[in-house]
Amino acid sequence: MQRYQIMRFGLEHLTLAEAADPTPGPGQVVVSIKAVSLNYRDMMMVAGQYDPNLAAGRVPCSDGAGVVLATGPGVRGFKVGDRVVSSFFQNWTDGPISSAKMRGALGGDVDGTLTSHAVLSETGLSKIPDGLSFVQAATLPCAAVTAWNALFGGPRPVGLGDSVLVQGTGGVSVFALQLARAAGARVIITSSSDEKLARAKAMGAEVTINYKSTPDWEKPAREASGGGVDVVVEVGGAGTLGKSIKAVRTGGTIALIGVLAGVRGEVDTVSILMRSIDVRGINVGSLAMLQSVVRAVGTTGGGVEPVIDRVFPFALAKEAFGYMKSGAHMGKVVIELP
Ligand SMILES: NC(=O)c1ccc[n+]([C@@H]2O[C@H](COP(=O)([O-])OP(=O)(O)OC[C@H]3O[C@@H](n4cnc5c(N)ncnc54)[C@H](OP(=O)(O)O)[C@@H]3O)[C@@H](O)[C@H]2O)c1
Repeated sequence: MQRYQIMRFGLEHLTLAEAADPTPGPGQVVVSIKAVSLNYRDMMMVAGQYDPNLAAGRVPCSDGAGVVLATGPGVRGFKVGDRVVSSFFQNWTDGPISSAKMRGALGGDVDGTLTSHAVLSETGLSKIPDGLSFVQAATLPCAAVTAWNALFGGPRPVGLGDSVLVQGTGGVSVFALQLARAAGARVIITSSSDEKLARAKAMGAEVTINYKSTPDWEKPAREASGGGVDVVVEVGGAGTLGKSIKAVRTGGTIALIGVLAGVRGEVDTVSILMRSIDVRGINVGSLAMLQSVVRAVGTTGGGVEPVIDRVFPFALAKEAFGYMKSGAHMGKVVIELP
């Protein structure tokens, strides 16, 4: 088998290495990986910005789709030949998150999917329908599940006529746009690129705002939603949270997902409590959420087709990381294996 390993921090130290083919242990499944999608986290992991204590030699990436090659003792739910996709947290099958369920994150706590042969837990993968290609399925475990959790995983799931503010046009945000539209919600989306905004409009976004040329984007967002959006898909973090607090309606929700615009900053705590804003921390999602996403995306006519910006061959995985880092992409960047 072949796999990429983070021998030291820095993309130049991401190394393609040969290893013996794995044998599955009890409850484990070996998957012949056919496609892997990249997430912002994977770039941070490789750069050493996510976990400074990451074990040397870790195989990066959380998202992989492929075919079951072998099953270990006790595995009941999968058989050789099944088409499957990985679940981000190998131990979070369902219900609310807990510290125990959070252990076993692929490409962090345990070896990930940027490999020809991944050893996954039976509790950490989902079957995929024939209608989904491996490249499409590989986009789902982190970005789509996170978007799903943000929109539907809380106490007030997004529905018909709700307004959702989506920041940016990366992997999570494009899925949030698509899933919110599929649920009948109105979408207001921001981006640094007018060209990406035009594509978002064609995908059903009602209002588009360039956050570079309109730095006070919270004002038009609030106006367009008639006094505040129901939900903000917050990928900016500290640098955008203040504006999101202004853009959301009283009693609305900010799904706090990313920190692209900063980790720490001042927070208007009084507005949060006086206007009863629900700030929900999101940490990807469970296997049950992945299964819901697979059903939604895999259903013909469901209206959610993963937006795949570019596909790189396995041999050019480093170039794929570099391309993602450039920020030129819209939607997902995928690596395909032979
Ligand atoms: N908590 C979780 O469970 C979870 C899960 C997945 C991802 N995340 C986090 O969510 C963020 C996005 O991840 P991703 O994988 O979707 O990344 P990605 O595909 O690389 O998307 C990044 C995009 O974010 C947009 N962006 C950057 N700065 C922005 C700002 N100040 N305001 C609005 N948009 C901005 C840009 O869109 P434009 O090019 O359109 O400007 C950029 O292309 C990252 O911080 C990641 O770590 C968290």
